[in-house]
Amino acid sequence: MTTVLLTGATGYIASHTWLALQAAGFDVVGLDDFSNSSPEVLNRLRELSGREPVFERASVCDAAALEGLFERHRIDAAVHFAAFKAVGESTQQPLAYYANNLGGLVTLGQAMQRHGIKRFVFSSSATVYGDPESLPIREDARLTATNPYGQTKLMGEQILRDLGTADSAWQTACLRYFNPVGAHDSGRIGEDPRGTPNNLMPYVAQVAVGRRPILQVFGNDYPTPDGTGVRDYIHVVDLAEGHVAALNRLLDFPGSLTVNLGTGRGHSVLELVAAYARASGREIPYHVVPRRPGDVAACWADPALARTQLGWTAKHGLDRMCADSWRWQALNPNGFEA
Ligand SMILES: NC(=O)c1ccc[n+]([C@@H]2O[C@H](COP(=O)([O-])OP(=O)(O)OC[C@H]3O[C@@H](n4cnc5c(N)ncnc54)[C@H](O)[C@@H]3O)[C@@H](O)[C@H]2O)c1
Repeated sequence: MTTVLLTGATGYIASHTWLALQAAGFDVVGLDDFSNSSPEVLNRLRELSGREPVFERASVCDAAALEGLFERHRIDAAVHFAAFKAVGESTQQPLAYYANNLGGLVTLGQAMQRHGIKRFVFSSSATVYGDPESLPIREDARLTATNPYGQTKLMGEQILRDLGTADSAWQTACLRYFNPVGAHDSGRIGEDPRGTPNNLMPYVAQVAVGRRPILQVFGNDYPTPDGTGVRDYIHVVDLAEGHVAALNRLLDFPGSLTVNLGTGRGHSVLELVAAYARASGREIPYHVVPRRPGDVAACWADPALARTQLGWTAKHGLDRMCADSWRWQALNPNGFEA
């Protein structure tokens, strides 16, 4: 049995990946400090998997805690999700972002090295492409970061490349996620942002459920078909399956890889709003406000490399993403809070 350490385990993407890994026959050890998630996630995972979650509450920046974890559990690989992820906040608090996102990665890498564990899957992001020069975006596109959060992803990838150069026994997978949305089809786990959602779909979900009165659409004068921003939305369950595929690849073949995890299709803000209105049967009132600094006009993946390298493609379309998001939101109007 292969045992995988998930850092940031009770977060949005990791909780879905936890279930996908168990379904694929992996054992999971979860680690999270609950800085951006709820312990209630563990109850939901227990209920959905029928198994007691193996979990430790600690920061991935805490070397002593990691040491204890690796002594208590025989780990074969790590999937490192734990990070802060709010772009705007990262420009206000760069030190906190570098300390947590890069400090965590380095501390985890050192602990793994001490224990001879050298398979590492990293949550990177399409943000490393900045404002893309051409679409769809291939992995060999120019890389640039426009904010400290993006820098932590670029530098995280670099650290892992340097590790592989120094010691070819290290096998790393940098997974560049496009825009994860949706929820598990049970409606029991999903995205539960704290405060005002930074991303479009959770915001739309909160408008649909009546938690927020109106959606602000940031700009309708982009050079896109309807003038609103276009993104490659990917169902979180497809994304979770991408991690299973990446781990299997690291287990079966030597070497490291960097791949996009996206669908290869772009949808505009207004397309998403219309799809969500259909899925929820609710009206989504919106008004257009000026562009948000730092937002790009359009961004979607070339997913070909993931298909050839991982044998993975996204299966779910926008309607399914909205339907699953809405089920989660309607059943849990206040997220994981009772
Ligand atoms: N959601 C997106 O749009 C998106 C896109 C691209 C990349 N990513 C990356 O994917 C990863 C997961 O994102 P998510 O959307 O699930 O976010 P999330 O905030 O829901 O999950 C991150 C989890 O990490 C935990 N965490 C943070 N710092 C920690 C630390 N020092 N020690 C232990 N736990 C810690 C948080 O409590 C949270 O549970 C992140 O690395 C993020 O940067 C997310």
